[in-house]
Amino acid sequence: MKSLALLHASQLVTLAGPKRPRVGKELAELGITRDAGILIRDGKIDIVGSSDEIEKKSKGAEVVDLGGRVVLPGFVDAHTHLVFAGDRLDDFERRARGETYEQIAKAGGGIWSTVERTRAATEDELLKQAKKHADWFLKCGTTTVEAKSGYGLTLEDELKILRVMRRLNDEMPIEVVPTFLGAHAVPRDTSADKYVDLVINEMLPRVASEKLAEFCDVFCERGYFEVEQSRKIFTAAKKLGLKLRGHVDQLTNSGGAKLMADLGATTADHLEKTDEQGIAALKAANVQPVLLPGSVYALGSTSYPRAREMIEAGLAVVLATDFNPGSSPTPSMPMILSLACTQMKMSPAEAITAATINAAYSLNRGEKIGSLEPGKLANFSVFDCEDYRELAYWFGISQTHAVYVRGENVVRF
Ligand code: NIG
Ligand code: FE
Repeated sequence: MKSLALLHASQLVTLAGPKRPRVGKELAELGITRDAGILIRDGKIDIVGSSDEIEKKSKGAEVVDLGGRVVLPGFVDAHTHLVFAGDRLDDFERRARGETYEQIAKAGGGIWSTVERTRAATEDELLKQAKKHADWFLKCGTTTVEAKSGYGLTLEDELKILRVMRRLNDEMPIEVVPTFLGAHAVPRDTSADKYVDLVINEMLPRVASEKLAEFCDVFCERGYFEVEQSRKIFTAAKKLGLKLRGHVDQLTNSGGAKLMADLGATTADHLEKTDEQGIAALKAANVQPVLLPGSVYALGSTSYPRAREMIEAGLAVVLATDFNPGSSPTPSMPMILSLACTQMKMSPAEAITAATINAAYSLNRGEKIGSLEPGKLANFSVFDCEDYRELAYWFGISQTHAVYVRGENVVRF
């Protein structure tokens, strides 16, 4: 049995607590142990305790001195678009000159331009770029990512993207949780209704039969998929055993939160324009909100979702990067923590809970990851600071010192 003893963390942020997503005041309860250590056996956490206790029990183990640094569970990023080809530098520059996301999309940029590049790329080319992205996530302290397809928009191209995710899982230490987002945009050469039929009749059955995705997502938005079209796709996906996450109320309040509540979805994501009724609907149906302040920031908007109202309403808030080439080109969860604190008035502790244990539950992995408790996977990150609040406070620099996945050191600075 391989064992590893890590000693002398200034703060071991365990997130130990009830075996469910955290709500209300629980969001601020991090379960911190000081001058702490952790004993790992066979890739799993065996004991969490004081350095003295761990040292006594570390016979035969490899010992690592953490040097008074902070240790956190690996971040769980529950909303990313990890696999795509190229970038959107031109869109970025146009937005800098004042054009909006919607104007740029109409003029030939936007999601469609990434679709063209992704279709033209081979599976190997996509995998190569996706590995680069996965490496960025690991360097930021993220050990699990949800990843959406959605830049293919034909059966074969969507399958190609999902297969890249499967290969990433085999070839990289990061865990990838696949989501099918065939309804990300309406292809140029067809109508929305025809495309919805294609998604339902051809894409979803293949994705489900090849077990290429755990979740189904739809971009429910004016100019993309209307509420009723989204409902049809989600209903078909649910029948095939997929769980649901949805891009809703990002640019307009179209009743998307209520739709996700009606469908008994796992998450409702974005929610920049969601109002009190939407929040109440999410609460009544126990849907987790996934908030994506990186896309608000990068689009130069100021409409952040109402995080405080959601917390007060008792929702198990999740934070994620929305990593994608258009609206949120960042893999950095520490950047998201900073935005959550400065722009959405979450406390550093609430933000960390939203980016770890709550995110893990939103991916149906709360029993395995998201906190540092005996029996869970030894996925954690070590940061070059003494107080966990520094992660959200210093911004624009990396504080990552080392990252471990299943007890293996996969990143070291
Ligand atoms: O989450 N809103 C839709 N999808 C992405 C943006 C994708 C893109 O612009 O390429 C988002 O913001
Ligand atoms: Fe997104």
